[in-house]
Amino acid sequence: MCGIIAYNGRDDAMPYLVDGIRNLEYRGYDSCGCAFQSTNGIQVRKDVGRVDDVIRKYQLDGEHSNTAMFHTRWATNGPVSVKNAHPISDCTGEIAVVHNGIVENWAELKESLSMHKFRSDTDTEVIAHIVEDRLNKGGTLREAAKYAYKNIKGASSFLVMKSGSDEIVAVKHGSPLVLGLSKNGHFISSDIPSFSAYTNKVIYLHDGDLVSITKSGYSIMNMAHVKAAHKISYIKTDYTENDRSGFKHFMIKEIMEQPRLIKQIVKSDISALEKSASVLNQSKTVYLVGAGTSFHVALIGAHNMRLNGINAIAIQPQDAKDYSKVFKKDDVFIIVSQSGETADIISMLPLIKENKKLGILNSAESTLARAVDIPIFINAGHEKGVAATKTFTLSSIYLVLLSMFASGNKEAALRDLRLLSLNIYNLFVPSVLSSVSKAASILKKKTDVFYLGKGLDYAIALEGALKMKEVSYLHAEAIDTATFRHGPLALISNGAFAVSIVSRETKQDAIRNLREVKARKGKIIGISYENSDVFDIFIKVPEAGNFSFIQQAIVTQLLSYKVSVLRGIDPDHPRNLAKSVTVK
Ligand code: AGP
Repeated sequence: MCGIIAYNGRDDAMPYLVDGIRNLEYRGYDSCGCAFQSTNGIQVRKDVGRVDDVIRKYQLDGEHSNTAMFHTRWATNGPVSVKNAHPISDCTGEIAVVHNGIVENWAELKESLSMHKFRSDTDTEVIAHIVEDRLNKGGTLREAAKYAYKNIKGASSFLVMKSGSDEIVAVKHGSPLVLGLSKNGHFISSDIPSFSAYTNKVIYLHDGDLVSITKSGYSIMNMAHVKAAHKISYIKTDYTENDRSGFKHFMIKEIMEQPRLIKQIVKSDISALEKSASVLNQSKTVYLVGAGTSFHVALIGAHNMRLNGINAIAIQPQDAKDYSKVFKKDDVFIIVSQSGETADIISMLPLIKENKKLGILNSAESTLARAVDIPIFINAGHEKGVAATKTFTLSSIYLVLLSMFASGNKEAALRDLRLLSLNIYNLFVPSVLSSVSKAASILKKKTDVFYLGKGLDYAIALEGALKMKEVSYLHAEAIDTATFRHGPLALISNGAFAVSIVSRETKQDAIRNLREVKARKGKIIGISYENSDVFDIFIKVPEAGNFSFIQQAIVTQLLSYKVSVLRGIDPDHPRNLAKSVTVK
């Protein structure tokens, strides 16, 4: 994935970029580095570890330069090591490149660059050597960057600097890049929150753009050397809220924000939902698309739509190609994505360019917000924890509202939402929280846990298991309660633990199936509206009609958070992950 930010202008770049790269850490935190112009040419500082560790180690906030770029890496090609940290240099050290994406033909290009000395295992390094080669033959940095772009395959955006030059050149292809314009200089970055504290004036770059920023200005050309006439946009979202408000981690802060955010929906303008509901009614099939947690939101939406008589299917973006033969012109697509930047979704858009697209999104400035016909914003505020929590619940709520509006059940939907906004406070009470703590202290010592549920409860089980895996590294597997006896039951023996999601609709069948687990000495943590003799630990959740599942989901979030903390893990930065997956 990786995050990139650069500044070139009359001000000192370093304070902007030290601050900016911290705000891009959600894109990866395997290693961090920077390149800046100095009187002795380009200086490169880089190391493995978190952004703050690298800044501290090299005292980067004490450096001064007007022209600089930073990178935070999520390793794709080549292990996490200092030599693979960006910026990546050419043979001479005169050229520095930062890159977000994958050069798919890097091995072949490397062979053709056999005269060059490669020092890293990255695919990025071919870009640095191609630029070096081209500059040796004469020409400008822009021409060399364009030549590199023409030779590489795959979604790749990169920035390049040359020793002694006051120019930073950027190429946008696939991975996001946005230009920020301020009075004294310009930014190029993977994402707006990295510089939104300094300017709200932006230009969204297009694939194939070749951008140059110097101390005095900027230019955007396409690859045919035609000046691009992109419009200037103004950022509306406030990204400045960066503190944890007294909480130890963003994850728990964001879990605890949910009651307030749900209350906010009750009072909000729902006209976008009403407009979208009429679109659904004109469709033959509704496809709901999302990845990871957002796929679970799509499952919830599709389940609720089917219950309301709407023909709906949840699919993962990676499977869209397989489905494309059955897509019809009047099918509607609902895209669920908190970041709006998930590469798997962006790359399936050409398959559905003729179709009407709705978006359940959190970021108004994202690529997907610009790509859909009707964006519905969940207004969850910036989610900083890698594990999606509040965006899961809010997106699910919006989808259920949409489905109920479309099927003529608006009044019931709003009634249940109001009920949720009141009842949710009964979730954060000592009796519930102490049951969650008790369950967490048992799961902390386990290596495996099963999440069981049926129908809508199964979607919550999937999400609960994903959350547990992400932040606690515990092997958590979601299995449909009814299919457990068709094989997985063999995994149950004395000491095995299952977290069971049981709602009023599924209770009768679920309890019968859970007895089969009990009979094999399995232990059960029940997340339900009422107790049962099969539960070894009971966590009581209040009901709220069509939104009861929201409270079950919040319990699973709390449980994962507690296990994570008990295991000494930082839930905001779990190993190997990044907040948004911007490579395919
Ligand atoms: C959830 O906790 C994960 N961080 C991940 O599964 C995420 O939901 C997925 O990558 C999709 O992201 P998006 O909603 O930003 O598209």
